[in-house]
Amino acid sequence: MNEIPPVLSVRNLSKSFDGLPVIRDLSFSLAPGAFEAVMGPSGSGKSTFLHLVAGLLAPDAGTISVAGVDMATASDDERTLFRRRNLGLVFQDFNLLPTLTAEENIALPFLLDRRPVDAKRIAWLLDFFGLAARRRHLPHALSGGERQRVAIARALAMSPSLLLADEPTGNLDSANARNFCGLLARLHAETDLSILLVTHDLIAASATDRIHLLRDGAFVESFVPSGDRELAARRYLAAMGA
Ligand SMILES: Nc1ncnc2c1ncn2[C@@H]1O[C@H](COP(=O)(O)OP(=O)(O)O)[C@@H](O)[C@H]1O
Ligand SMILES: [Mg+2]
Repeated sequence: MNEIPPVLSVRNLSKSFDGLPVIRDLSFSLAPGAFEAVMGPSGSGKSTFLHLVAGLLAPDAGTISVAGVDMATASDDERTLFRRRNLGLVFQDFNLLPTLTAEENIALPFLLDRRPVDAKRIAWLLDFFGLAARRRHLPHALSGGERQRVAIARALAMSPSLLLADEPTGNLDSANARNFCGLLARLHAETDLSILLVTHDLIAASATDRIHLLRDGAFVESFVPSGDRELAARRYLAAMGA
């Protein structure tokens, strides 16, 4: 058989904080080019899972392979380099540098990596995210929606193979949240980027091709969101034991 290896493969992952298990023997894989969501209530372990995948946290047990690299055995330096070059990370807080313009924030990964800025890539990102007219603005002069678009453009500057987003719509109003999810869907349709979205927002999760439900640090169910949000909401509540 000629199977394409997953871009993310997690096996028997466990993590406790102060003796309390937060991730329990969890296995997961994401195919190249997939656009999927991990959804669960606050405290279910979503951020912990994402931080483990990104190599920002060390697991107690289990293996994590991202684009063929074993995150659990890589050194700190190797993980930092790998993250910069192969992973795009977007969080609820935009984490922009306040003294840099939108364009400079987006180009930052090239400077950190001591590489010449890929002007063509930056121009494509500014255009794709509708930021061309805002390129010289400082973050404080941008709206929340624009700031998050700068943050995702920066995450994609180095053309990573995997984008990890943790509640990226958490600080956006509903119109900007919908716009952001639309941009993720367009990225998915127009590029070969793999996207894993972590959220407790059913509307955001419903933009993806598959929703995995996380409860108390374990996946309990996964399903393909249909247009029927009420059905998805019932399914979610049932899986959470509500
Ligand atoms: N650094 C930490 N130290 C201690 N407990 C933590 C830490 N990070 C997360 N937790 C706990 O782990 C559980 C899951 O947290 P988290 O992964 O942030 O959930 P979610 O993102 O789904 O809201 C929570 O009970 C939280 O208090
Ligand atoms: Mg979280």
